[in-house]
Amino acid sequence: MSLEFHPEPLGELRRTHRCGDLRRENAGEEVVLMGWVHRRRDLGGLIFLDLRDRQGLTQCVLNQATVPQAFAKAQVLRNEFVVALRGRVAERSAETRNPNLPTGDIEVQVEELRILNTARPLPLQVAEEQNVEEGLRMQYRYLDLRRPVMAQNLALRHRLAKATRDYLDSQGFYEVETPILVASTPEGARDYLVPSRTRPGHFYALPQSPQLYKQILMVSGIDRYFQLARCFRDEDLRADRQPEFTQIDLEMSFVGREDVLALVEGLMGHVFREGLGLEIPAHFRRLSHAAALDSYGSDKPDLRIDMRLHDVSELVDGCGFGVFQSALEEGSRVKALVVPGQAGASRKEQDALKELAVAAGLPGLFFLARAADGLKSSLMKFLGPEKALEICRVLGAEVGDLVVLAAGPRATLNAALGRLRLEFARRYDLFPQDRFEFLWVLDFPLYSWNDEENRLEAEHHPFTSPLPEDAGMLESEPLKVRAAAYDLVLNGNELASGSIRIHQREMQEKVLANIGLSVEQAREKFGFLLDAFEFGAPPHGGVAVGFDRMVALCAGETSIREVIAFPKNANAVDMMSGAPVLVDPEQLDVLKLKLQPRD
Ligand code: AMO
Repeated sequence: MSLEFHPEPLGELRRTHRCGDLRRENAGEEVVLMGWVHRRRDLGGLIFLDLRDRQGLTQCVLNQATVPQAFAKAQVLRNEFVVALRGRVAERSAETRNPNLPTGDIEVQVEELRILNTARPLPLQVAEEQNVEEGLRMQYRYLDLRRPVMAQNLALRHRLAKATRDYLDSQGFYEVETPILVASTPEGARDYLVPSRTRPGHFYALPQSPQLYKQILMVSGIDRYFQLARCFRDEDLRADRQPEFTQIDLEMSFVGREDVLALVEGLMGHVFREGLGLEIPAHFRRLSHAAALDSYGSDKPDLRIDMRLHDVSELVDGCGFGVFQSALEEGSRVKALVVPGQAGASRKEQDALKELAVAAGLPGLFFLARAADGLKSSLMKFLGPEKALEICRVLGAEVGDLVVLAAGPRATLNAALGRLRLEFARRYDLFPQDRFEFLWVLDFPLYSWNDEENRLEAEHHPFTSPLPEDAGMLESEPLKVRAAAYDLVLNGNELASGSIRIHQREMQEKVLANIGLSVEQAREKFGFLLDAFEFGAPPHGGVAVGFDRMVALCAGETSIREVIAFPKNANAVDMMSGAPVLVDPEQLDVLKLKLQPRD
């Protein structure tokens, strides 16, 4: 079929149903459907069309004997032509039903067909679930989004956004939009800058989050604010990071930590019920930041697996094994974790695990297998059978399990074993599917130490309040001060982050001073917030949920690119529009900007 085919007008035809609607009960009805030709099968005197729209597929059939004109048109159809058709719904015979399709009990016997538009041969197939190269998918995103799985992801995103809005509305929140052209906010990433025409040499930043504005809204008496807020961060991209992404951003006045946690638990419960039809626990498990690191080696532990890190330093102390002994003398620790069911791991497998350990920053990894025919370990001669058995008992290692042990400085050891824990779970297929394990991680440190710049930096952001009981250490031991900050973790992903804020100017200045911001510098950057604190700022706190991450987890996708209509690639390029692009020299002249030659 050539592309000279003249499309026909829609005329008076109007859709009666979408392509996923029709069921056995509709048999006998006259219907009008519109959509794209997903597949076409020509069986001689019969042509079958799978007609597709964003909602589903309907099998439509044209019979040469009864509708010769429509049949002739159907012969020229190719994939992704756009058609309108009128016909009658018929129940399919038992042998031809398709139980995998919601509309699989029926077909539409076409009486009239209009070809509304043609399509060139496709650079990527919409109808096939093949592994298309992602660059191509991004370049032809409009075709990619026609694929049923992508249409479902966008539908889910819509439902979750609506459930979010409904719930927050029911809790007395106002949705308020905050500006996109702002002064730089100190959230920790690099800003995207926008040059000003009216004040040459001056720049707006795109907001990394609406943090300052939402706090200002509390001072304004808005009391409860939310926004599905677009945020912009010029940082290195990963599967769960995009340069522009969306947060469910919210802030509440006259609240403490428990109020914010309860609100988020209620929101998640509502969103999962409305969006996925799933009941989740009314309250989520909790761990302190310190306990999360000690037990799981991560500040975002994946609790779908129960494996924990155990400190066995006391148990192995004095056993005479040189590696452990010298580690303990240097103040390092020895920790262990149980890999269920892997007592039979071969030497080769053990070597592969050792390699993983080295890649994770450990000098070595040692094994203790609780096999059916007894304990097996290269450490047996040091530990002896009794100690070895005691270690198994303390760790809960059953017959058939493998204990891995390693030594190292506390932080390095935790982080490395935390990575191994996840790697083991992936390798041995231990992650249960379709499970959602929520966890609050509480009591983060207020500051962390930036080695490169040799200074303290805010672990969350500098508007986070210290825990009142730790505030006395702000000057003497700032690294020991815990923050009134919390993260919500879902299946090992940081889903949300928030804190109770500082709402008094003196405390704000003290906290800023520790990260090296003088009163003058702070004034210059966000004096408006400090000023606002002097005009009756209520106590307040809030949180931001990574909306793209939430949708991706609900959709069972591993990358947030699968749930964003038009994402950027790893170089922050929009492959469809080509952005970022060069601009006309005149545009730069207007902005009084000159480009340096590129090398
Ligand atoms: P934070 O920077 O922790 O906090 O961000 C909150 C949540 O946003 C998500 N997120 C991202 N999602 C996709 N791509 C990114 N580049 C990206 N960066 C962050 C994460 C994260 O948990 N203003 C504070 C919130 C507050 O204190 O209320 C803030 O933005 O899921």
